[in-house]
Amino acid sequence: MKGLILSGGKGTRLYPLTYTRAKQLIPVANKPVLVRVIEAIREAGVREIGIVVGHTAPEIKDALGDGANWNVELTYIRQDSPDGLAHAVKISRDFLGDDSFVMFLGDNVIEGGISRLIRDFADNNWNSQIVLKAVGNPSAYGVAEMRPDGSIKRLIEKPDRPPSNLALVGIYMFDRHIFEAVDSIAPSARGEYEITDAIQWLIDQGYSVYPHVHKGWWIDTGKPTDMLEANSYVLEEIEPKIDASAEIDANSTVDSRVTVQAGARIVNSVLRGPTVIGKDTCIENSYIGPFTSVYHGCEIRNCEIERSIILENSRLLDIDQTLRDSLIGRNATVKRSDSKPSGIKMNLGDHGTLWV
Ligand code: G1P
Repeated sequence: MKGLILSGGKGTRLYPLTYTRAKQLIPVANKPVLVRVIEAIREAGVREIGIVVGHTAPEIKDALGDGANWNVELTYIRQDSPDGLAHAVKISRDFLGDDSFVMFLGDNVIEGGISRLIRDFADNNWNSQIVLKAVGNPSAYGVAEMRPDGSIKRLIEKPDRPPSNLALVGIYMFDRHIFEAVDSIAPSARGEYEITDAIQWLIDQGYSVYPHVHKGWWIDTGKPTDMLEANSYVLEEIEPKIDASAEIDANSTVDSRVTVQAGARIVNSVLRGPTVIGKDTCIENSYIGPFTSVYHGCEIRNCEIERSIILENSRLLDIDQTLRDSLIGRNATVKRSDSKPSGIKMNLGDHGTLWV
């Protein structure tokens, strides 16, 4: 069994954060989503993993290297144009050979890992297994129409009138027959080779495709609100830990659900979990409320923050109002200004949003 992670795409809905950064590298609970995906595949016993990368390839290679840090072997597969998920499978043929594989979209965050799915697939002679999840907005996804016996009748990509509320989660298992399928389909209306169409082809040819309906949470982290929601879920899951090299002074209150990473300094502050404070970050005279992740090298003084994600090396200084439900990029500064004329001043990135 091999793993295939798809990590191309522009991440336009996460602009401006993804102008300069692959969306799969944005951290959730201070760990990039892509690393979470690698760990889920490794926990299921799969160590040979291919990563399909697009224009953000250099940055992804830089962050992950050969995978040794996570005890996996990574092979990078270049997809020069975003021609769809089935196209990504097609160009991974040499890496995958005749092995069965699990394909995981590199921006999906899911509760509970995939070990059981991999076991079910290995124990059965199915040609493919797909993961479904009941959602409130099925039109945004691939959707499954089921037969009364629970098998799949039809899969449709982003239908206007969805036949059910069961969306295709970005985790799929295939045997080598998927290569016949991806060679047989035509591009969709959006000009992509859809994996949904390839799986439909398998069904039409009489190959066995079994569904697993996922009961836990699942987030396809396309938009800022998805990142915040995924961050909240994952923060609830992680085992809190205060690193031995972190400094917390006697005037600070840090509750039992807070993680403080190496070299962080907490001075005269209140930290309420679940929350994570990154390496070498300094928090002074501040309140960091639940569901907040502050990444490495940040400086936060005289601020109150709740349910937010702050990325590396950013500075938040002397803000009067509570900052909440916010996503702040790297090397950003938010600070109070006393100079006249007063009013809100900003250098806001392209496609950024400021709510006042
Ligand atoms: C892709 C698939 C879709 C699936 C979704 C899950 O959509 O085409 O069937 O439901 O991932 O994240 P895309 O993200 O390419 O729009």
